[in-house]
Amino acid sequence: MKKEFYLTTPLYYVNDEPHIGHAYTTILADVLTRYHRLFGEDVHFLTGTDEHGQKVADASRELGRSPQEHCDFTSKRYKEVWEKLDISYDDFIRTTEDRHKKVVFDIINNIYDKGDIYQKEYEGWYSVSEERFFTEKDLIDGKDPIGNRPVEKIKETNYFFKMSKYQDWLIEYYEKNHDAVLPEFRLNEVLGFLRQPLGDLCISRPKSRLKWGIPIPWDEDYVIYVWFDALINYYSATISPPEGTSPSWPCNYHLIGKDILTTHAVYWPIMLHAAGFELPKHILAHGWWLAKDDVKMSKTTGNVIKPLDLVEPYGADTFRYVLMREMVIGQDAAFSEKNFIRRVNSDLANDLGNLVNRLTKLLVQYFDGVVPDVPVDDENEIISLAGRTAVEVRKKIESLQMHSTIEEIMQFVRAINRYVTVAEPWKTAKTDLDTAGETLAVALEGIRIATVLLSPVMPSKTLELLRRINAPLNDNIVWQDTAWSDVLSGRTVIHGDAIFPRVTLPKTSEKIEKPAPEKKKPAKTPEDGIITYDQFKQVDLRTATILEAEAVPDTDKLLRLQVDIGSEKRQIVAGIAQHYSPEELIGRTIIVVANLQPAKIRGVKSQGMLLAVQDDKNLRLLTPDDEVKPGRRIS
Ligand code: ME8
Ligand code: MG
Repeated sequence: MKKEFYLTTPLYYVNDEPHIGHAYTTILADVLTRYHRLFGEDVHFLTGTDEHGQKVADASRELGRSPQEHCDFTSKRYKEVWEKLDISYDDFIRTTEDRHKKVVFDIINNIYDKGDIYQKEYEGWYSVSEERFFTEKDLIDGKDPIGNRPVEKIKETNYFFKMSKYQDWLIEYYEKNHDAVLPEFRLNEVLGFLRQPLGDLCISRPKSRLKWGIPIPWDEDYVIYVWFDALINYYSATISPPEGTSPSWPCNYHLIGKDILTTHAVYWPIMLHAAGFELPKHILAHGWWLAKDDVKMSKTTGNVIKPLDLVEPYGADTFRYVLMREMVIGQDAAFSEKNFIRRVNSDLANDLGNLVNRLTKLLVQYFDGVVPDVPVDDENEIISLAGRTAVEVRKKIESLQMHSTIEEIMQFVRAINRYVTVAEPWKTAKTDLDTAGETLAVALEGIRIATVLLSPVMPSKTLELLRRINAPLNDNIVWQDTAWSDVLSGRTVIHGDAIFPRVTLPKTSEKIEKPAPEKKKPAKTPEDGIITYDQFKQVDLRTATILEAEAVPDTDKLLRLQVDIGSEKRQIVAGIAQHYSPEELIGRTIIVVANLQPAKIRGVKSQGMLLAVQDDKNLRLLTPDDEVKPGRRIS
């Protein structure tokens, strides 16, 4: 039997328009489930919308719609965005569906029959935005401690769930199951919370105040509190799943943000235990995406970034890649479009895209585009590195280390880049075709494996890349496809446009970083030939990556280079044509003087100068001795 892997996202409040916080959790869920499908497991991925409660009732009233109409409209927005982001969920549950309501009835009846629900009068501070009561001492400056929104004092008779009765049981459970809440520091937070007195949970709302909810089965004057209703979705979705799927309880992972840790790690396990069900195996709480000034992105703060605003200009796969690469699970991350662009250009356009371009170009130039069938030395470092990378990727995914999974794969890509740079196939091709062929075949097979390993992160771009290198494609990519092979031998690759074009900030938001102006200090009088530190610092030396290179027509010494200097693209004319061919320069990182007055050399504009050293007849470029991003200042 196949191993089961059942994973959920939170059910998002229908009121909010999806923003990158919601997109992050959902993409993370999608990427993890795609990896587990690759591992050959029986995967079930559940997402959906949370549709009852005060917030929805208020919003629909303002819009003059019925709550159900409002939910139908807003729930669809999530589905539309998930489609654009290539989210491959197996089930989308809505808490207003009958299949869910039925199970909620069963569970609440079951707990009521066991005597764990009672009625009493209660007074507390209610936050509509968080849909929960807070006690006086929870409040911060008279506002709710999570969203900093107004609260109102409410006194009414309600039904309560005896949570306190299970407090010691839950502490003991967590003390024995350290991986039940991840990362472990979040478990400690939960345990800290549990070591204080735990009140009982108010699980009803009088219909006189709120009608939009699932009725309490035994008392027509009340509806069920929205969290008590919504959490049950994770279980109810297993009772009547879509045709052809058969998820089974308990689920493997609930993915959530840290904002809803208490409801998931305290209320939910106690509800399940009281009803006689098993607990979810793991709850993973990730951090928040922060907007400007490090505040949480949320609709109420009005600082949200909408996924489609980034997907339209940059593409869904790029968006998925950057979100997964930039957040260390568990920690907060600041979002900026500038960093987004930097990441796309350095990893995708440069490291991966350029490499593919160089290889297909050389294959077309020397082998008519056909991957040569040449013997490959089994001791080749790239072969063993490919094997180690696949093993590491699997381990890291199993322990949910998303960003370092990606880094692992990109390190492999960079190793292939170095391998090609050192082997210089553009030179060996002129004298020894077999050797050049071996280099190209090895590098391309490495790329094929890296692409398969990246496929859960960028499902459509990786498919495009595999088509470019003409890898045989079966119905589905499977884990076995990450093994070293000679499947590419004899196949014809396509050399085409950049698969990951470089991106730039839209003009309006472009801010070129200028070095801060130096404060004038009284000039010291230096000895002859000696410059001061301040004088040296006036030269803006930076790393730059060569994007394009070509000969300047009618000259035999000059090359025209397009380089990335971090903040912008520059054209530099350099007298190095007798020492370097254009193709061996592409992708290299060099050092340039970035603040040199622009000049025209043989009629061609040159905005800077590169550093090189002449040794007898030989001229060599100065380069950093390891990977450095473009635009780093030399100090
Ligand atoms: O809480 N950074 O729904 P919700 C990262 N309906 N993730 C974020 C985020 C941010 N700035 N903002 C939101 C609810 N998220 C309830 C859940 S579950 C039975 C009911 C993500 O629409 C993150 O996963 O407020 C967070 O936990 C979730 O969206 C909250 O979504
Ligand atoms: Mg919220």
